[in-house]
Amino acid sequence: MNHHFGKVWKSYLDQHFSAERVEDARNSILGFLDRQDLNGLSMIDIGCGSGLFSYAAFESGACPLFSVDYDGLAVDCAKRLWEHAGKPQDWNIQQGSILNDPKALNIPRSDLVYAWGTLQHTGDMWKAFRHSAEMIKPGGLFYVAVYNEVSGVGLRSSKFWIEVKRIYSRLPTLFQEIVFWLFKAGFSIVRLLRFQKPVKAMRRGMDHDVNLRAWLGAWPCEFAKADKVIRFCEGELRLKVIRTHLTDRLANNEFLFQKPFDL
Ligand SMILES: C[S@@+](CC[C@H](N)C(=O)[O-])C[C@H]1O[C@@H](n2cnc3c(N)ncnc32)[C@H](O)[C@@H]1O
Repeated sequence: MNHHFGKVWKSYLDQHFSAERVEDARNSILGFLDRQDLNGLSMIDIGCGSGLFSYAAFESGACPLFSVDYDGLAVDCAKRLWEHAGKPQDWNIQQGSILNDPKALNIPRSDLVYAWGTLQHTGDMWKAFRHSAEMIKPGGLFYVAVYNEVSGVGLRSSKFWIEVKRIYSRLPTLFQEIVFWLFKAGFSIVRLLRFQKPVKAMRRGMDHDVNLRAWLGAWPCEFAKADKVIRFCEGELRLKVIRTHLTDRLANNEFLFQKPFDL
């Protein structure tokens, strides 16, 4: 493991973590779920990354909360936030892979399974979907976000970025740094030429540079069109789609599914 994500999340916590960003994270979860809080819901955060969303969910009332990430450095980040929250007993954090048998994680099925931007980076996205779905209680919710697949040519196509990410992830750190600055400069110039601010405003409490680094090195990586995700979840996993927030660009599509009570 190259700890790409873990290193990125550590730099995020070191430099950017703040109460305002927690608020943004909280609003992103509650806004999409259309709820005021998460009181009364048990929750699993699969691929918890920096732990920001687990922290925001815990503050919003999710209990018990289970945070899982494959990368040990990401787990350390989430544990930092757990300490920040006063080491609550009903927030559990562990290292583990959603590609392994979910029973091995020893986490009870929960009311809300949250997998934002994770399943596409496991190396077997559809298996990760199956395992995530197993962890939802009957009647429970599945809030999942995966990269939209965009066909075409150049910077707007998924295929282009698959190649960039594949190559970037194999470069030595110094070359990765050069590629990062080239893309950062290129994007800023394009934005300035369009009379926009050089640095794009970020959603979900994220930071522009951290996001760009995370994006470039996020490998393995899969993309899927929204209708394919819905067909798979409704057809194979027997989940019901409740809500979507879709894009036609290279970004994450968000989905809210519900598991039937008889599953
Ligand atoms: C793009 S980040 C998303 C982090 C967080 N969910 C968020 O919204 O900011 C993807 C995360 O998934 C984790 N991950 C990758 N493969 C995984 C796996 N097989 N099981 C669990 N987590 C995994 C990575 O370590 C990384 O922290």
